This record gives sequence, structure tokens and C-alpha cells, in this order.
Amino acid sequence: MFITFEGIDYSGKSTQVRLLEEYYQNLGKEVLLIREPGGTKISEKIRDLLLDKKNMVMTEKTEALLFAAARAQLVNEVIKPALERGAIVISDRFHHSSIAYQGYGRNLDLHFVENLQYFAISDTVPDITFFIHITLDEVARRKMENNRGGDDRIELSKDEFYHKVIDGYIKLSESDPKMKLIDGTKRIKTIHSDIVDILNSLSA
Ligand code: ADP
Ligand code: TYD
Repeated sequence: MFITFEGIDYSGKSTQVRLLEEYYQNLGKEVLLIREPGGTKISEKIRDLLLDKKNMVMTEKTEALLFAAARAQLVNEVIKPALERGAIVISDRFHHSSIAYQGYGRNLDLHFVENLQYFAISDTVPDITFFIHITLDEVARRKMENNRGGDDRIELSKDEFYHKVIDGYIKLSESDPKMKLIDGTKRIKTIHSDIVDILNSLSA
């Protein structure tokens, strides 16, 4: 089972990833958590390049190619072997992030960005994706309550960019039955139990 979480920063992805990990661990299952970009030595180096505020000169095409490169390495080194041995893999972001951020957000050729994802991941596609949806007003509220410190290079992007990313995610969830839109303003526990219900209905 390969499960991915998507949404803008502060939407609650890592909160839900942790709760789901705990849920499966309590059932005695092997769970592997992944954070994108990253998860291997090479992918973590690429992550540093991508998020470093000193790299403001990075072009949008370079950015898209680096995210895909980090993902290709992660799939082959970590995700594929884990799925093959029967582990449940939960990833905080995966290929939909590139389609939403680099495709819709940065206005790169959408068709190319989508094809690039399948070049990087081949047939390692998620069984299900939870897109946790919140508005930018909600992000602002959460940032006021709990600022995690300095924004990274991508987070310095303007609101206009984030509106396009959110619209992109919504379009993706409307066209892909395996991508479930979750209202991220519900209570943390409610979201978790909705997610568990959806997952259990899949395996029923
Ligand atoms: P992400 O991984 O998407 O950036 P986090 O899980 O780190 O998001 O959550 C960002 C902030 O929002 C944290 O302070 C977290 O406690 C809070 N948060 C997460 N889920 C909810 C929710 N459903 N309602 C209100 N606050 C939430
Ligand atoms: P990270 O801190 O891991 O995400 P979050 O803030 O959600 O916890 O930072 C990753 C950043 O990179 C985040 O702003 C989203 C962006 N990103 C892309 O633009 N494209 C991608 O393909 C991925 C995986 C992430």
C-alpha cells in the first residue's frame, strides 16, 4: 500500500502522516514514512539545493528537474524495495506536488511536467492520495499561532503562486478518483478518522 499526502504548507500533512503511522503501527504493520524532497543521501542533497534561500537564481525548469531527480532516486532506493517487501509506505508529498507547484504554480508546460513525473517514478504510483485543502487565510492564521521560523526558498513565493497551486490541486482531485479532497479545517481527529475510514473501505 502506497499512500501520499498533498496540500500547501501548513495544511496539516505531517500531523496526519504521524497519526496514520501510529494507527498502522498499533495494528502491527511495517510502516515507512517518507518526506519529499529527501529520504536518501542524494535526495537530501538535492533538497538542500532546492530550499536554500541563497539559490534565488534557480530557474523554474531547474527546480522542476531537481524535484524529479530527487524523487527518481527515492523511488528506486527506498519506496520500491519497501513496497516489494510488503511495507505500507506513507509519503508527505509525492509527484502531485510537482504537478501542482511546478506545473500549475510556476506555469511550466503541464503536459511535460506530468510526463516527467512518470519518467521519474515509472509504475510506482500511489494507491491513494489525500489532498488536505485549506485556504491561504487559514495558512496565515496557523502561521500566526505557530510560526516555524524562516520560510524556505519555495515558501518565499507570492500568494498569487499559492492560489495557482491550490487551484491545481483542486483540478487534480476532480480528475483523479484516487485523489481524495479532505477539508483541512476540520478537527485533527476527525480528519484522521475520515482518512482511516477511506483506507479501510479500500481494503474491504
Ligand atoms: P504541513 O505538514 O502540511 O506543513 P503540519 O501538520 O505541520 O502541516 O501543521 C501545520 C500547523 O497546523 C501545526 O501547528 C498543526 O498543529 C496545525 N494543524 C494541523 N492540522 C490542523 C487542523 N485540522 N486544525 C487546526 N490546526 C491544525
Ligand atoms: P517541506 O518543508 O518539506 O514541505 P512542508 O512545508 O509542506 O512541510 O518543503 C518542501 C517545499 O517544496 C514545499 O514548499 C513544497 C515544495 N515542493 C515543490 O515545489 N515541488 C515538489 O515536487 C515537492 C515535493 C515539494
